[in-house]
Amino acid sequence: MSSSTQKLALRNALIEKIGGYMTAHSLGVAAELGIADLIKDEVRDVAELATEGKLHEPSLRRLLRTLAAVGITTEPEPGRFALTEVGAQLRSDSPDSLRAFSRMFCHPLLVNSWQALGHSVTTGELAFDHVHGADFYSYLATQEETSALFNEAMGEESRIAAGQLAAGYDFSDAKKVVDLGGGDGTLLAAILTTRHELRGIVFDSASGVAEAPDVLKRAGVDDRAEVVAGDFFQDIPADGDLYIIKSVFQDWNDEDARALLRSCRAQIPASATLLIVGSVLPETASPEQPIAFFTDLNMLVNSGGRERTESEFRAMLDETGFTVESVGLRTAGPLSIIKAVPAAAAR
Ligand SMILES: C[S@@+](CC[C@H](N)C(=O)[O-])C[C@H]1O[C@@H](n2cnc3c(N)ncnc32)[C@H](O)[C@@H]1O
Repeated sequence: MSSSTQKLALRNALIEKIGGYMTAHSLGVAAELGIADLIKDEVRDVAELATEGKLHEPSLRRLLRTLAAVGITTEPEPGRFALTEVGAQLRSDSPDSLRAFSRMFCHPLLVNSWQALGHSVTTGELAFDHVHGADFYSYLATQEETSALFNEAMGEESRIAAGQLAAGYDFSDAKKVVDLGGGDGTLLAAILTTRHELRGIVFDSASGVAEAPDVLKRAGVDDRAEVVAGDFFQDIPADGDLYIIKSVFQDWNDEDARALLRSCRAQIPASATLLIVGSVLPETASPEQPIAFFTDLNMLVNSGGRERTESEFRAMLDETGFTVESVGLRTAGPLSIIKAVPAAAAR
């Protein structure tokens, strides 16, 4: 490769990354406008799509072309578009839909706080609180529609891990599963659908569990599931034997994360098991798990929490009275499972 070709390749590599926010906005708008729901699994003429979606045809064509350039659509003939397999996940009727996830992460609520990333990096303060004047979950509790979107987005994000955990974890010692910070109940629904002998509780804040009764009913498991609203720093249902806490720890700074573990330690039975499901960061940064590093930065911006390494998890669990039994790396999709038990009951 000549040095000028190499130079151009290097420049383009950086320029494409800088354009990442344009990709995100293009995806967010496509998700918001329901464009994938119009295309479905056909090759559609842009003029028809514009009429059906009440959109401006020349601008829609430019959006769809740009999405073709990043692998979301294809343009097999000029002016006719289809979805790729990646793009098909923007359909709301797909079992693997990430439409709500795309809408949520491109929502002004999060885009505006990300614009203040520099504030966080300069001061260490939370961008979200700086921009919106309240912490993430308190603010969300006042925004019914956005809260429902957030819960749906989290449910979509959880679906694959939920299926894998439900099918792959050995539940033989469990009778009652409590999903702490369980949101819309997607994970518990997957577990109860696979394990007919189990009962369960979805525990979350009032706004967090708002959609859970419907999700559990649609899954046909509502007769074995309870939905409990509360604050996991204060009150944790004491009658479970397997407690799962998925994609929750990263929301909290070390002090709050320790407080949450102490709350668990004080309230779950001594014979219970705690499963922490989430990302475990490698000790040094690598491009293998980019999502975990973006999540970490997202926590710097939006919740004040952080992702953690295995040794950080182990130290925190040890300090709060738990014994780690195993760390199953990447056993639930890109997520890991840390299995811990109250220290006195270590087995
Ligand atoms: C990132 S979401 C994860 C939801 C779900 N576990 C999942 O994996 O999709 C974190 C959850 O923690 C809940 N949460 C935050 N603060 C809480 C509190 N004090 N008590 C109970 N739940 C809380 C939120 O409402 C939200 O549903």
